[in-house]
Amino acid sequence: MAPITAPGQAAALFAELGPWQRALRAQFPIVTANPELAYLDSAATGQKPRAVLDAVQDQLTTAHANAGRGSYPWANASTALVAGVRDRIRTFLDDPEPERSAVHFTSGTTEGLRLVARDWLPELLTDGDEIVVPFADHEANLAPWLEAQRLLERQGVRIRVREMPYQDSSGDYDTAALARLVGPRTRFVAATHVHHVYGGNMNVHLVRQAVGPDVPICLDAAQSVGHLPVSVAELDVDFVAFSGHKALALPGSGAVWARQARGPELRPGGWRGSPNTTGIASLSAALDWLEAAGTERIGRWTVALAARLSDGLRRLDAYEILGCQRSLALDARVQQRCGIVTFRHRGIGASDLGFILFSHGFMVRTDGHCQAGAGERSSSVRVSLHVYNTPEEIDRLLAVLASLT
Ligand SMILES: Cc1ncc(COP(=O)(O)O)c(C=O)c1O
Repeated sequence: MAPITAPGQAAALFAELGPWQRALRAQFPIVTANPELAYLDSAATGQKPRAVLDAVQDQLTTAHANAGRGSYPWANASTALVAGVRDRIRTFLDDPEPERSAVHFTSGTTEGLRLVARDWLPELLTDGDEIVVPFADHEANLAPWLEAQRLLERQGVRIRVREMPYQDSSGDYDTAALARLVGPRTRFVAATHVHHVYGGNMNVHLVRQAVGPDVPICLDAAQSVGHLPVSVAELDVDFVAFSGHKALALPGSGAVWARQARGPELRPGGWRGSPNTTGIASLSAALDWLEAAGTERIGRWTVALAARLSDGLRRLDAYEILGCQRSLALDARVQQRCGIVTFRHRGIGASDLGFILFSHGFMVRTDGHCQAGAGERSSSVRVSLHVYNTPEEIDRLLAVLASLT
């Protein structure tokens, strides 16, 4: 993705992509029905385009039945839907070896990561092995690994959980320190693609370089799938867990993609029950919509909006931006800031600021953002963007923020 490095560049991008963006924004009924409101909380969940709503309606009113069970036409259609969306996800994630990978449907990223931790990781590990996991990312990408450690310990298998090193205050991984941490007993690394508080692309390609070719990497892609191109071929990771609802599909939909190369196959244990066929249909429609819209352009648009916001905030002394203080992108692959900007007012608490902002029509996230460990424990305000957001919304937001200094 081409980097946005200067305000002038962002302005050119808005001019270039404006007509494209306006056509897409018009496809979100909840957005067009509420022009006085600005939804700035897409990292929590995304709004749904008409195509997704239509696909849900269609699935429920034409051939709705359970999947993988009956043999009458509606049941067959549901079974085919589920199999087809598995392939759709492989293509969407740029899977270089679709015949060797598996896709398991989940209710979201949390369940996907738990599946890997519960049904795959214990088979990989023996006494004395080490895993590296992120202590300052989303709780969903820490708790399952610690649970796996506790469960293994009860079976007499002691594993060491190492903390993924971070660069000071920037929120990015310190991949040089990671390379020093990795040793012959390192068997697994969990990482996040885009940080849900700092908005940084966590340089997962550098994580692969740091850990070498043999260590499986599990990627939390909750904030990247649906926001920018995600290529498992390029990232060389072994698992990708994501949430459908953050990628413009229905709540309760999601998947974990698993490469069956480094380590055992992921075979979800126990009885998993009926698949969420309507959620899966919505995911299929959302991926089609995102691909037609162009995830690369969506990424560039939201990064440009974030650049506009953080450039404006930097001029206001009353605000502190969390995470990397440098420009949105220093080069195309490193330190790329994505469409999330989190900040604090030096004198007004985050939840008060949230109320004030809503009184002006802005919907933002305010709290600790489910961040695990020793991260930003106190509250902050997070603005997270998607393709339906506009530079005018950012300018109105900055005007309100400036009036509070
Ligand atoms: C980085 C990250 N990981 C995991 C999750 C959990 O996603 P879900 O609640 O959809 O399971 C989130 C949700 O905000 C997230 O931002």
